[in-house]
Amino acid sequence: MEIVRTKRELREKLRPERRKGKVIGFVPTMGYLHEGHLSLMRKAREDSDIVVVSIFVNPTQFGEGEDYETYPRDLERDAKLAQEAGADLIFFPDVKEMYGEGSITYVDMTGLTDTLCGASRPGHFRGVMTVVAKLFNIVDPNKAYFGQKDAQQVAVLKKMVEDLDFNVDIVEMPIVREKDGLAMSSRNTYLNGAQREAALAISRSLFEARSLIEAGERDASRVKERIVRKLSSSPMILIDYVELVDAGTLKSIQEVKGSVLIAVAVKIGDTRLIDNVKLEV
Ligand code: PAF
Repeated sequence: MEIVRTKRELREKLRPERRKGKVIGFVPTMGYLHEGHLSLMRKAREDSDIVVVSIFVNPTQFGEGEDYETYPRDLERDAKLAQEAGADLIFFPDVKEMYGEGSITYVDMTGLTDTLCGASRPGHFRGVMTVVAKLFNIVDPNKAYFGQKDAQQVAVLKKMVEDLDFNVDIVEMPIVREKDGLAMSSRNTYLNGAQREAALAISRSLFEARSLIEAGERDASRVKERIVRKLSSSPMILIDYVELVDAGTLKSIQEVKGSVLIAVAVKIGDTRLIDNVKLEV
């Protein structure tokens, strides 16, 4: 496995492979890899001839006061894990290489980005779309792999690909959880013991909501109430949002039917955590 730091070098390496008709699978990440990322890489390995992983903590998707500076970074550890999961190439640009001097062009969207994390983190999805569009142009993959934990990100990127005619298939992979249910996230490393214990209420509240729906509940506000009650039982949890939305449009629903996304975002101390469950009703 090789680590490549410039766009030019990456393009030079991939061009001949593409000409030979090799299938390129791409896993964009911000590093500090966990099982969730590794499951994407293993799937890419199964589907493709060449697996490219990018590691880039993207400054344009962090808002003021967010954790850009403190976001965990460890290339040596990540390289080892990525290699074991089947990566052939790691693209590891620095900010200057990625954005260049005087970069003033962005990719943005309306509607899908106005709710959930888009409402709480203004500008976040503009940064995500811009960097992913750039990465798609640089890597030119056949398939790109994303985790369902960032369900809104996947919906936004699928729409971007459709609207801007990117020639790439977006593959969405299930959330990977710790044994006790906590959704894997690089940000879990910020939590101390008590905070991590409190964080379990997030997945538990979502599983309870799912059971409630499976038992026949169709009133979205009652499901939401149950989640809020469970989360509020921990004084460490500050709720950002609890929403039941249509999984395609991300619009709020009153009646639980069709493809439903139940999404939660909370803060525990300074750490923002998100989680969700999707279900067909
Ligand atoms: O999901 C992430 O880690 C990031 O948002 C992504 C897609 C790598 C873009 O920076």
